[in-house]
Amino acid sequence: KEIVVSGIRSTGKLHLGNYYGAITNFLKMQKEYNCYFFIADLHSLTTHPTPANLNDSVKTVLVDYLACGIDPEECTIYVQSDVPEIIELYLYLNMNAYLGELERATSFKDKVRSNPDNVNAGLLTYPVLMAADILIHKAVKVPVGKDQEQHLEMARTFGNRFNRLYNSEYFPEPYAFSYAKNLVKVPGLDGKGKMGKSEGDANCIYLSDTPESIRKKVSRAVTDGGPTAENQQKPEAIRNLFDLMKIVSAEDTLAHFDEQYNKMAIRYGDFKKQLAEDMIIATNPIRERINDIANDSDYLRKVARLGADKARESAQKTIKEIRELIGFRSF
Ligand code: TYM
Repeated sequence: KEIVVSGIRSTGKLHLGNYYGAITNFLKMQKEYNCYFFIADLHSLTTHPTPANLNDSVKTVLVDYLACGIDPEECTIYVQSDVPEIIELYLYLNMNAYLGELERATSFKDKVRSNPDNVNAGLLTYPVLMAADILIHKAVKVPVGKDQEQHLEMARTFGNRFNRLYNSEYFPEPYAFSYAKNLVKVPGLDGKGKMGKSEGDANCIYLSDTPESIRKKVSRAVTDGGPTAENQQKPEAIRNLFDLMKIVSAEDTLAHFDEQYNKMAIRYGDFKKQLAEDMIIATNPIRERINDIANDSDYLRKVARLGADKARESAQKTIKEIRELIGFRSF
């Protein structure tokens, strides 16, 4: 079976962007492929969480994974820091990652712009650590949202460079994957850009949000004064809400409001109410399971331990072979 790897940073609760960009693919892939799904706690260190925060966030993501239906019997679920072999591979790959290309990464440039006081080396080499996550299991498919596409390109570059340097065909090329025709970008509620935690809580619908909270956030989503001509192109804020509806609602619901918009008869209040209700239908069962699973510490510990064992077995095999390729002491 083909090998699949993907991870989500432990920066708190998962939102609809994580769910429709990544997790819906995980759920299908776990039945078809040899999947490794992990919690990227090392990656979250770039923003210096306190120990208590880090610990809570890792648990939150694990609970959310399980509540979504990622099944430890069908795939390997683990915490990144439980697999130190990843860190070793990260070091080797760093020797062939160049300052210029790392500085050109879009995610790095965004971080420099948004947080110029914390431009640390870990942030710069973030894509190298991500490549190590993927290459450690020799994965070929990586289910991610649109925002990770460039990182996948870099993972291929680093893997290929390693192969050339050691005259091998050791690493296969990993590609971003989605069952949808294109990689997904879930928009936020703030009228611009993607749904994401760094864009603020009001912009995100979390899987654990209560119905009241979802209704409130959606009712406050950015709109405008309404269409000013028939069949006009939708401005970004409105297009984003339609895109969200396309993701969570039935086709005829979307078609109905689209027609209303085109006839200049849309009432944003009704439109948002429907959008909120469909988001609630999508997330409610997950939220209920989150509450159950979060209280079962024994189960969470068991899942994490089992996953760490399985992930390390695969990672240790890779590291052993790589050490030979590099030429470490064999006498
Ligand atoms: P992260 O933690 O930001 O996001 C986790 C996953 O959710 C997807 N995602 C979205 N997809 C569509 N629309 C959105 N608004 C949206 N927001 C988030 C992301 O594309 C991602 O699939 N660097 C990665 C974590 C990572 C990783 C890896 C992923 C570390 N190592 C190895 C795959 C393989 C990240 O920060 O994702």
